Amino acid sequence: MYSLIYIVNNLLFFISTDCNYAKGRWIADSRRPLYSGFGCKQWLSDMWACRLTQRTDFSYEGYRWQPDNCEMDEFQGTEFLRRMQDKTVAFIGDSLGRQQFQSLMCMVTGGEEKPEVEDVGWKYGLIKPPGVVRPDGWAYRFPDTNSTILFYWSASLCEIEPINVTDPATEFAMHLDRPPAFLGQFLNHFDVVILNTGHHWNRGKFRANRWVMHAKGRPVTDRKLAEMGNAKKYAIQSIVRWLDSKIHLHPQLKGFFRTISPRHFLNGDWNTGGHCDNLTPLTKGSEVFQKKSSDPVIEDAVKGTKVKILDITAISLLRDEGHISRYSIKASAGINDCLHWCLPGIPDTWNELLYAQL
Ligand SMILES: *[C@@H]1O[C@H](CO)[C@@H](O)[C@H](O)[C@H]1NC(C)=O
Ligand SMILES: *[C@@H]1O[C@H](CO)[C@@H](O)[C@H](O)[C@H]1NC(C)=O
Repeated sequence: MYSLIYIVNNLLFFISTDCNYAKGRWIADSRRPLYSGFGCKQWLSDMWACRLTQRTDFSYEGYRWQPDNCEMDEFQGTEFLRRMQDKTVAFIGDSLGRQQFQSLMCMVTGGEEKPEVEDVGWKYGLIKPPGVVRPDGWAYRFPDTNSTILFYWSASLCEIEPINVTDPATEFAMHLDRPPAFLGQFLNHFDVVILNTGHHWNRGKFRANRWVMHAKGRPVTDRKLAEMGNAKKYAIQSIVRWLDSKIHLHPQLKGFFRTISPRHFLNGDWNTGGHCDNLTPLTKGSEVFQKKSSDPVIEDAVKGTKVKILDITAISLLRDEGHISRYSIKASAGINDCLHWCLPGIPDTWNELLYAQL
């Protein structure tokens, strides 16, 4: 809590406001970035390391976020690990959650090679089966502090279950009101959980993944609920309620819901020539003035619960120049990535805001 005191016409006013990390401004800072985009090879995917691409302008790396009314300690990797001594930090979500996970691994290590960090994916069943491109997640343990940081891929934050296990072309029941099985299985091992979802809630992704919405164990027949926006809201409310009940049982557990990461496609979408060519930082302004989140679905879902909002939407909306854009390593002509971010980059700030709230 913050107390503001001001005096008008000899009257003293006290106003208590909650510190709102999402209200503030971007400031140029020579101490950024927190790691080099040429380094962090142990954790940073080449596809997100814009320093390895044709891009030549990296001015987007040189900013930090300054909230108006909150203290923010400078991020220190060793201090982060010290706070997370004997603890496990779990990111659960889609590829933007994976970006935040890789960012945190790089921030904590300063992008330096750390041979002593142990791959403990096996403890969580995160192993790559033969013939599969990647495992469902990654988990790394820092032996000095016995801290683990992990990511688990769950694009919808729902339990996904094959409808006919013997059919290779089966559809999948997507249980809107059940958390991913992984989270149910391992939550007792986690101390900090950061959830995110959003970009897979469209008909195209549902068709490609052969997801069939279910609620209360049955296919959804309610037309209202089956509308994409309503289904997403229902799933988010369900998992927030579930996590909140777990925090009540285990008060040491901290739960965050990261708001949606904004897209910046202009003149089309990712598959219809949309682009984000601006390279100049902060042409959209450097400040967020609004009090409310730009992601009302998550803001409403966490209201009155012990799950905290990690509100990065409006902050990141100002940073259209920080996307991969057309500089991807395996760029297909005409396909621009105005969804994912260059690393180091904007997701580092999300982790600084997380750090401030831990
Ligand atoms: C490491 O931390 C876990 C909890 O996350 C604890 O159960 C375990 O005993 C710790 N191991 C050591 C060697 O301290
Ligand atoms: C499940 O899939 C198998 C293989 O395609 C098929 O033979 C079987 O009839 C299916 N079962 C049901 C209940 O649809």
